[in-house]
Amino acid sequence: MVSFTLQEDLQMLRDTAREFAEKELVPNAAAWDEERRFPREAVMKAAELGFLGMSIPEEYGGNRMGNLALCVLLEEINRGCASTGVTVSVHNSLFCSPLVKFGTEEQKRRYLPKMATGETLGAYCLSEAGAGSDAAGLSCAAVRDGGDWVLNGAKLWITTGSEADVFIIFARTGEHRTRGISAFLVEKAFEGFGVGKKEEKLGIRASPTTEILLQDCRVPGENLLGEEGQGFKIALDTLDGGRLGIAAQSLGIGRACLEASIRYAKERKQFGREIGQFQAIQWKLADMATNLEAARLLTWKAAARRDEGLPCTKESAMAKLAASRTCNAAAREAVQIHGGAGYTREFPVERYMRDARITEIYEGVTDIQRLVISRHLMA
Ligand code: CAA
Repeated sequence: MVSFTLQEDLQMLRDTAREFAEKELVPNAAAWDEERRFPREAVMKAAELGFLGMSIPEEYGGNRMGNLALCVLLEEINRGCASTGVTVSVHNSLFCSPLVKFGTEEQKRRYLPKMATGETLGAYCLSEAGAGSDAAGLSCAAVRDGGDWVLNGAKLWITTGSEADVFIIFARTGEHRTRGISAFLVEKAFEGFGVGKKEEKLGIRASPTTEILLQDCRVPGENLLGEEGQGFKIALDTLDGGRLGIAAQSLGIGRACLEASIRYAKERKQFGREIGQFQAIQWKLADMATNLEAARLLTWKAAARRDEGLPCTKESAMAKLAASRTCNAAAREAVQIHGGAGYTREFPVERYMRDARITEIYEGVTDIQRLVISRHLMA
C-alpha cells in the first residue's frame, strides 16, 4: 500500500517547524543575510525543539525520526531561512548520520549527546581546491604516527566551517584512488587545526563557508571513523542522505517563491485589475505549484527508501536534480512576477533567487546528479 498522507507525528513535526520558521526565521532572515550573521540563537532554538537530533538515537539524546521527517522539517525551515536550513541539514545528515552509522560506541557517546542539544555543531569536509566534482581526487594526507594520525592539507567550501566544533574530514591514507581514503573525526581544539578564509557568496550569506586548514593536525587513533580505506564509501553514502536535505531545501525556497508570488499577484494592479487575474500570471503559478509537488513526491519517496534501508543513490540524485531545478525555475518566475520590485531588496524574492542558486551546486552539481542517475540506468 502506498500512502500519500503524512502520518500524524510528521504532521505535528511539520506544524511545529512551520510555527518556528514563521516566528524565528521569517522576520530575521533578510537582516542575517545582509549582515552575513550566523543565526546562532535560532539554531539553539531549533535544538530545543529537537531539530538537531533527527538522526540521533534516543540513547544519545536524539529522536531519530529519520530522513523523511528531516525532509519535512527542512522544507519548513528553508521556507523561512535557507542559511539556517543548510546548517540544520549538514549537522543532521552530513555529520550526525554517518557518525551514527559508522561510529564506534565510544565515538557516539563522546560526540552525539552534545550534538543533539546544539552545544556542539558538526561539519563535513570532503572538497578541496583540486577535488570538487571529482571528490576522489582529494590530496589532503593522513599519516600514522605512533597511535595517532597526522593530517596535512586544506579543505574548501566547508559549510558552518567557522562555527562548527567537530568535523568529519576525508583524507588520503593510501594510494588507491577511492580505497585509499579514510574518514576522521576532528575537533576544532586539536593541535594543527585552523579555519582559513571565509567565502563572500552570492546567497545563503548567513551560513559561513570557509576553508579548513590542517597543518600537522594530530588526531588520536580512536578518531578514525569506520575502517581505514572505507572513507570514500562513507562520503558517498552520506551524500545519498545529504542530497535529500538539499532537495528539501529546494522545496522550501521554491515554496517561499510561490507563496510570495501569490501574495503579490493578489495585491499588484496593472491595466485596472490585480495581475493575478491575467492568465500569463496564473499559468506561472500553476506550473510552479505542480513542479514543486512533483519534486516533493520524488524527495519523500527517496527519503522513505533510505529510512527502510533500501538503496537510494539514484532516487536521491533524482530528487535533488528535480527539486533544485524546480526551485531555480520558481525563483526566476517569482522575480519575473514581481517585475522591477522583485529585483530590489524591498521584496524577499531577490534573496530567494540568490539562495536558490546554490542548490544546483553543493552536494554534487546538477550534472553529477545526472551522471549518478545515468550510471544506474546503464549498469
Ligand atoms: N554509497 C556507497 N558507496 C558508493 C556510492 C554510494 N552512493 N557510490 C559509489 N560508491 C562506491 C563504489 O561502489 C566504488 O566502490 P569500489 O571502490 O569498491 O568499487 C567507490 O564508491 C567509488 O565509486 P565510483 O567509481 O563511482 O567513484 P567516482 O570517482 O567515479 O566518483 C562521483 C563518483 C559520483 C562522481 C562522486 O565523486 C561524486 O558524487 N562527486 C560529487 C562530489 C560532491 O557531491 N561533493 C559534495 C561536497 S559536500 C557539500 O557540498 C556539503 C555542503 O557544503 C552542503
